[in-house]
Amino acid sequence: MCGIVGYAGGGGAREVLLRGLKSLEYRGYDSAGLALCGDRLHLLKDAGRVADLEVRIEHMTEAGTGIGHTRWATHGVPSQINAHPHTDCTRKVAVIHNGIIENFMELKSELMKGGHKFKSDTDTEVIPHMIEEELNKQQGMMDAFRKVVNKLEGSYAILAIIEGKNEIYFARKHSPLVIGLGRGENFLASDVIAFLPHTRCAVFVKDGDIGWVNSEKIYVEADGNKVERPFTNIEWSAEDAMKGGYPHFMLKEIYEQPDAVANTLLDARIEQLATELGHLKELEIVAAGTSYHAGLAFMYASDLKTRLLVSSEFRALYKGGDVLAISQSGETADTLQAVRQVRAVNGGKVFGLVNVNGSTLTRLADQTVYTHAGPEIGVAATKTFTSQLAVLYGIDAELKGKKIPTFDIESALRLNGEMKKLSIDMSRRQGIFYIGRGPSSVTAREGALKMKELAYIQAEAYEGGELKHGPLALIEEGVPVVAVCPNDIHRKKMIGSIEEVKARGGVPVVFGEAGDKELKAISDRFYGLPATDPFYSPLTYVVPLQLLAYHTAVLLGWDPDKPRNLAKSVTVE
Ligand code: M6R
Repeated sequence: MCGIVGYAGGGGAREVLLRGLKSLEYRGYDSAGLALCGDRLHLLKDAGRVADLEVRIEHMTEAGTGIGHTRWATHGVPSQINAHPHTDCTRKVAVIHNGIIENFMELKSELMKGGHKFKSDTDTEVIPHMIEEELNKQQGMMDAFRKVVNKLEGSYAILAIIEGKNEIYFARKHSPLVIGLGRGENFLASDVIAFLPHTRCAVFVKDGDIGWVNSEKIYVEADGNKVERPFTNIEWSAEDAMKGGYPHFMLKEIYEQPDAVANTLLDARIEQLATELGHLKELEIVAAGTSYHAGLAFMYASDLKTRLLVSSEFRALYKGGDVLAISQSGETADTLQAVRQVRAVNGGKVFGLVNVNGSTLTRLADQTVYTHAGPEIGVAATKTFTSQLAVLYGIDAELKGKKIPTFDIESALRLNGEMKKLSIDMSRRQGIFYIGRGPSSVTAREGALKMKELAYIQAEAYEGGELKHGPLALIEEGVPVVAVCPNDIHRKKMIGSIEEVKARGGVPVVFGEAGDKELKAISDRFYGLPATDPFYSPLTYVVPLQLLAYHTAVLLGWDPDKPRNLAKSVTVE
């Protein structure tokens, strides 16, 4: 998703913005750009990587105020022209934007009738032209900006600057925006990571807020009235967001799982949420991607009457009731839209399970429980998935009066060397199947998702019992089938599924409990994992599958931290 960063200080805007943009790269992007504010505006933007801008930025004038953007294309192809910032006809106003302006066609044709010339295919470009139009009516920038924002429909986090003024104007609706407060300098960004090296003091901008910052002050208004927004002290350090000696963020994050899970399980809010959920007759769960898999794992473990809906389908299927929304980022547009739908129909209470403190979901939910996984930079969810599972299994254990489980992730991580070796074989395959039964069908789905999103290998997951209802037709000589087979009530039937695969020449790659002689005997590719509570096995069994996808991607020459076409936080529907 687009990333935005703004800086208002005494000088050094070039470097601050560049560094901020680099830290936002993890959100996924196809172009980048920045504008610096001096007696006139200086612009640099292009399709491609932030690193490509770095070599050209030295030729730009130094300034105290500026804005920067990483673009993830929605309207208009990735190109120099469509990259942000966008300017008005006079090139006095520059604007960056994350989100979608839904009424941009009407606004654009109105502006064109008035003689405005458009350079790009983006929805965003209407904003600087509208500001220009308002400024022509002899009013100040804040009045002009407010009038423009009030005409916009859709979702946005917008930053605007105007030549000769060291102020950044901002507005937010349904796209993340946070202010960082420094000494003699202030920041604006889609994510605190962009200003963590400078300050940990943040103000989360609310939906509907409009305002400005300069190096000394911030001003925020809502519904035309000045408002004070509370400060939050961000606990994450800048170092937390660095690679810490690992070649990729993803590998570092896989290895952080023992700590992330242990920290998460310490949160007393798990017990509180368990008490709340224990009083419910039914619970709807809504989530997307890996978070959806966490919800599915909870359904297998829990005795609660639950229903799980994919966020983007929620609107069509929701019939009312209390909802648990699961989201690492707390900014996934589909999931937020689902929660807004619950509110719109007065459907019930909303519980959030979120990693990012201060994110939109935490503000929309009636009650939030956090995973304490720290920042996850790799686009693929790893430590946040196992931390989500920790919360959900913690809730389940509370409700059943069981001891909160412990998870031997370290033993699972010891398979790293073997996964690296196995990745040599996997990297040569056109397609891979993943199977599991019961909770392990979730492990299979998550393993397959990791393989396709990182290594770009067609990876399909099925419940073991479903093989014979269709996919078995695709199993032939040499097709690898990853079988997740812990020591649970499904083990015998899984052995049956593995035999079905072997009978057709498929190559089973089996993950089971260390020391399981029967499994070892049926496959020469057997990998042993520690004994686990059978209902909670996905939390440890997913670890080698994350490692396998990681090594396969690296071997094939792909960047596992930034898979193509994907974004960390999907803030459009
Ligand atoms: O931030 P969220 O948990 O709401 O994100 C949902 C999905 O976009 C996310 O889990 C996605 O599937 C991951 N990149 C998969 O690794």
